[in-house]
Amino acid sequence: MAASLQEVRDACLACRKCGLCETRQNVVFGVGAADAKILFVGEGPGEQEDKTGEPFVGRGGQLLDKYLAHIDLARGESIYIANIVKCRPPQNRDPREEEQAACAPWLREQIRLLQPRIIVCLGRIAAQFLIRPDFRVTREHGTFYQKNGVWLMGTYHPAALLRNPAQKGDALADFCALRDKIAELGLARADAGF
Ligand code: URA
Repeated sequence: MAASLQEVRDACLACRKCGLCETRQNVVFGVGAADAKILFVGEGPGEQEDKTGEPFVGRGGQLLDKYLAHIDLARGESIYIANIVKCRPPQNRDPREEEQAACAPWLREQIRLLQPRIIVCLGRIAAQFLIRPDFRVTREHGTFYQKNGVWLMGTYHPAALLRNPAQKGDALADFCALRDKIAELGLARADAGF
């Protein structure tokens, strides 16, 4: 069992457990603080992420940064950002079940080492994988579920918000609910103004 995120990352960068390794430019392992207590999980890398090796750096990522800033969170400080699959599905198709299953041990290791108190699922794929296979974002977004001592919440995927801006208000409310949960659990930075 790996002792650090760095060790897991090194092993993940050489992964060839599913067909996505054939078409990837970079493995997008994840970024953030090693002591992060809030973990955001997306679906899988897109074109920009595949090019750079960083999660959520495209237009969706810029929107995510805005929502994070709205509740006084920022990349690299007290949060970690990862994906269900670490390699880009061709043409940004949904990752297949077997690809998600092949990639799951990496996320499991990230969760084991980070021990997050809160996991925010960005979009249906992450919420159905981590919360419940029949999770419906439109019905259940913003609701917190407790599982093995961790609070999980699903919200809209930033790319879905770019396609359907009418849902942006709901997503903002979900981030405000996240801010309340962070405060309730005593995870807020002292200077964050919660
Ligand atoms: N969409 C995701 O789900 N993850 C990323 O890292 C980028 C876009």
